[in-house]
This record gives sequence, C-alpha cells and structure tokens, in this order.
Amino acid sequence: MGRAGRPTLLRRPSYPVDVLHGGIGYAPGMPAYRIGHGFDLHRLEALPPEGEGRPFVLGGVPIEHTAGPVGHSDGDALLHAVTDALLGAIGAPDIGQLFPDDDPRHDGQDSGVFVREAVRRVAARGLRIENIDATVICQRPKIGPHATAICERIAELAECSVDRVNVKGKTHEGVDAVGEGRAIEVHVVTLLTPADDRAKDGSC
Ligand code: CDP
Ligand code: ZN
Repeated sequence: MGRAGRPTLLRRPSYPVDVLHGGIGYAPGMPAYRIGHGFDLHRLEALPPEGEGRPFVLGGVPIEHTAGPVGHSDGDALLHAVTDALLGAIGAPDIGQLFPDDDPRHDGQDSGVFVREAVRRVAARGLRIENIDATVICQRPKIGPHATAICERIAELAECSVDRVNVKGKTHEGVDAVGEGRAIEVHVVTLLTPADDRAKDGSC
C-alpha cells in the first residue's frame, strides 16, 4: 500500500495497460470495472447556402432538421462523445488526438469509424461494454422519436446488444446557445467490464 492507504499499483504510470493485459493482475478485491465519460458540443448552423451546417446526423442516424452541425467529420456529436467515453475508460488518447480535425481525410467522414476504432481498442484490452448511457441536449429536434433507431445504430457500431445502449433527449429550456438552437451538446457515460468473467471478481 502507498500513502493514504492506496495500493501502489494505482500510481504506476502504465496501470491501465498492465492491469488490463493481465500483466500485473488486480489487487485482491479491486473491481475490474472501468467507467468512461465523453462530452461533445457542436455549433448548429442553417444548411447551405444560408449557413455551413452539415446534414443533421446523430448517433449515425440522419434526421430531418433545418440546421446541422458545423465541424469535424460529419459533425455527429453523439458518436464523438461515445468514442471519447470508450477511449477515456481505457485511458487511451482522445478522439481529437487519434483523428485530428485538421486532417483532410476526416472531412465529412462518417463518425462510425471513430466508434469502431474505440471499440477495437476496448476489446484489445480484454474488456467489453456493459452499457452506454447518453444524454443529448438540444432544443430541436426531438430525440425521443429517433431514440430506438439511434440505439440500434450505436449497438451495431459497438458490437453489443441494443439493451446495453440508452439515449435520451433534453432541452436547454431556451437559454444559452444550446437553448437558442445554436448548438447541440452530448454527455455519455459507459461502463466496461472484463470480457472474461473470471476477472470480474478481481481474482485474475
Ligand atoms: O421537463 P424537463 O425540463 O425535465 O425536460 P425538457 O428538456 O423540457 O424535455 C422534456 C422531455 O422531452 C424529455 O424528457 C425528453 O423525453 C423529450 N426531449 C426530446 O426527446 N428531445 C429533445 N431534444 C428534448 C426533449
Ligand atoms: Zn464532435
């Protein structure tokens, strides 16, 4: 044990990689779970020619809307936040480090490729997705009518069953940029557990 009663193991710089590859194992009783958090925000603009908004796509699902996101790739803030939650859970570099937004190869890119890369890295660490929970904050469009299709698409990209994915919408009560329809904001949390059940109780 280190100072303040924390296992020395936790302070090793290579902790996530070593532990999750089974290199040094878990301290007895230490949970093998990993929690990840992802956040993203994109400005929304009118579609061309009035503005520079891209076609509105959320969670990989195209949605009819008068405005669309500005920014990196196809501007899918939900898939970006899912990607960052998964990468964050394993201590990997974030989406902007892996896929720089000034790289012309990513201009207009389907953001599903970012999720797939994050999922590949999660599996390579011997982990699997227990669940993904997302909150999309925008004044319009309503997310509820599209939630099932979005969950199905995320589950497909994440290679997990759809009951492990949840997406819900909130307004911003008309205030600030999000409430005025000038931006969309997304928060995602995810829980990863060992793909091998034996590791769940900390016994390996
Ligand atoms: O009533 P409260 O202030 O908690 O929430 P709200 O932001 O007014 O949203 C009410 C409900 O509308 C949410 O609980 C969602 O079910 C739905 N909603 C949605 O589907 N999509 C949005 N962009 C915003 C809200
Ligand atoms: Zn983004």
